Amino acid sequence: MDKLTVEVPSNIAFLKYWGKDDAERQWPANNSLSMTLNNCRTITSIQSNSQGDRFYLHGQPLSASDRHGIKVYRQINFLRRCTGLVNADFVTVDSRNTFPTSCGIASSASGIAALTIACLALWTGSRDFTSLATAGFDRSRLADLARQGSGSAGRSLWGGFVRWQRGNSHQQQTIEQLYPASHWQLADIIVSSAVSKKDSSSYGHQLAWSSPLFKQRLIDLPQREQRLLEALDNRDFAMLGAVLEEEALEFHEVLTTSKPPLSYHDEKLQTIWHWVQQTRDQDAYFTIDAGGSVHIICQLQEKERISRQVQEVYGNCYLVLVDTIGTGPSLAVDDG
Ligand code: DP6
Repeated sequence: MDKLTVEVPSNIAFLKYWGKDDAERQWPANNSLSMTLNNCRTITSIQSNSQGDRFYLHGQPLSASDRHGIKVYRQINFLRRCTGLVNADFVTVDSRNTFPTSCGIASSASGIAALTIACLALWTGSRDFTSLATAGFDRSRLADLARQGSGSAGRSLWGGFVRWQRGNSHQQQTIEQLYPASHWQLADIIVSSAVSKKDSSSYGHQLAWSSPLFKQRLIDLPQREQRLLEALDNRDFAMLGAVLEEEALEFHEVLTTSKPPLSYHDEKLQTIWHWVQQTRDQDAYFTIDAGGSVHIICQLQEKERISRQVQEVYGNCYLVLVDTIGTGPSLAVDDG
């Protein structure tokens, strides 16, 4: 097998993974739930080499000390260690994102998930997901390995709506698809500053516990999750929207009350939240992530109209990306 190419979409959290119970083992403080995207994706090619692991992002070689390289080299070594494939070939990994990196569109989710699938497929000689599963790496196992490289990556292993349930051991943790993409066709219109964030989400997770609001958030979340599940189950858009915004605003409050305070959204970006709230007629709601992008969620039938409007208002100052719910990762082999 000469070369493998893996494509993995990013995801947008409706219920945020924020704060870890155990940073080393990557045990989250709470359950999270996301929608897998379609167009915002990482495309990763991988080949063996005999000299050492190499990582290229958009054609640029990155070392293990580069901020975009750290998680990648760490994950390659982690995968070798924890799968027992200690003598697995060195790899040349070539990745590109179809969207701006580190801007609140979860590039580490798609990037680390793609890397995990690519390494294991290459090392086990698997040409598709069925043979990967036969080699001992089904989706759940891949998701568990991916989330140890970056928590949100575990949720990108499936399309549709995906939940990561907390636990305090590998056995109790589950990441699973709740509904396939066909369940509810939603769109995500992303308004992005396209400026790389300076504080990583891993750093933000550490600060979460210092917010006086965080413990109460953990108490309140199961109830919010129930409402979210009900909204998804009934495809109740107004109910979904209310939960989305409540969660986004609380996430922002936790950030800004952490010590030291964090904020990924300056006042200018916050005007976009207000614009969504003021101009909608129950047909669009916003959420945010750890970075300078606002995600405007609407139903697929409203996508063209709303994205035209967003483009008119924000297209001059921001990058506007139009995405939809997606069906998840793909894997292709190039025998050269
Ligand atoms: C705000 O998965 O990037 O996007 O596990 O430290 O790599 P690490 O964190 P990461 O955190 C994502 C945080 C979030 C919310 C979410 O995706 O659930």
